[in-house]
Amino acid sequence: MIILGIDTSCDDTSVALLRDGKEVLSDVVSSQVELHSFFGGVVPEIASRKHVELIDLIYRRALSEAGISLDQIDCLACTNGPGLIGSLLVGLMFTKGLSLSRNKPMVAVNHVEAHAMSIFLEQQPEFPFLALIVSGGHTLLLHFEEPCKHRLVGSTKDDAAGEAFDKIAKFLGLGYPGGGIIEEQARAGDPGFIAFPRPMADENNYDFSFSGLKTAFVNAVKNQGVTDETRPHLLAAFQEAACDVLCRKTLKAAGDLGLERIVVGGGVAANGRLRVLFLERAAEKGIKVFFPSARFCADNAAMVALTGYLYAVRDRFSSETVMGFSRMKRG
Ligand code: KG4
Ligand code: ZN
Repeated sequence: MIILGIDTSCDDTSVALLRDGKEVLSDVVSSQVELHSFFGGVVPEIASRKHVELIDLIYRRALSEAGISLDQIDCLACTNGPGLIGSLLVGLMFTKGLSLSRNKPMVAVNHVEAHAMSIFLEQQPEFPFLALIVSGGHTLLLHFEEPCKHRLVGSTKDDAAGEAFDKIAKFLGLGYPGGGIIEEQARAGDPGFIAFPRPMADENNYDFSFSGLKTAFVNAVKNQGVTDETRPHLLAAFQEAACDVLCRKTLKAAGDLGLERIVVGGGVAANGRLRVLFLERAAEKGIKVFFPSARFCADNAAMVALTGYLYAVRDRFSSETVMGFSRMKRG
């Protein structure tokens, strides 16, 4: 079965082709980072206009890289939310157009679920498991009992973890997106330089909060100033607090739910310190943690095609009236 996947949920226009739920035939991602970096974050109106310009080109490139024609495609999968609504609608309407004109079934895919499923492009963890999705737009925990069946366990009350990395990088004028830049600079720093707060870490719930940590960082810089010498230390201490809280809450939830496996996904999952902390602490509890390689942590359409495949083989298709949605529903 060949599935075409499309993702235009944020600032990447991405189209992929996947054979039988495992072989990535092509995965073309056109990043708009340069356009948005001037503003220190994604500008929704600019993002949707760029998707309109690029979608047909990226679609054709994905077909030609895979050596596949539209006739050979069995099913179409497209992200319909959560994300920037103007951006989402570009991919969704494009997919609906292909579906209606060529009479091909389509699956509308939840972007966050797709991040959780991206691990299956490389590894095959057993169900059930807890998924931590950490990106620029989301920080949440999903309990997967089986494929296509999940429940929201907890989520951030304010900023997403990646958003905190991005805002701090913007505050220091380091560039966008901030995660990779901060990780790089923090390498030379002492994570114990300042004990930044771990918001909600010890509360008896599975929710997160990152806006207080961001404020604590800004206040520390305002009070003490920042020099080339102290910057790596401040960033290492911030990264340590963010990763520590992500690990602690996720491991607590997995323990309480009796889950022996954790799958991590989303752009922040590429962070090396987060990976080390998770692997160390989970091993102590007999829990196995799975991380996709960096290219499948970030937004991509292969994960959307894979999620579409899991629904398609269960005959769970979407109707042509399916709508886009911007926010994850609490379930
Ligand atoms: O999943 P993604 O590509 O897009 C969204 O759905 O948001 O995630 C992008 C986010 C950005 O906030 C970026 O700063 C963060 O992932 N990120 C990182 C790292 N690489 C990307 N955060 C921490 N450490 C990294 N190495
Ligand atoms: Zn994403």
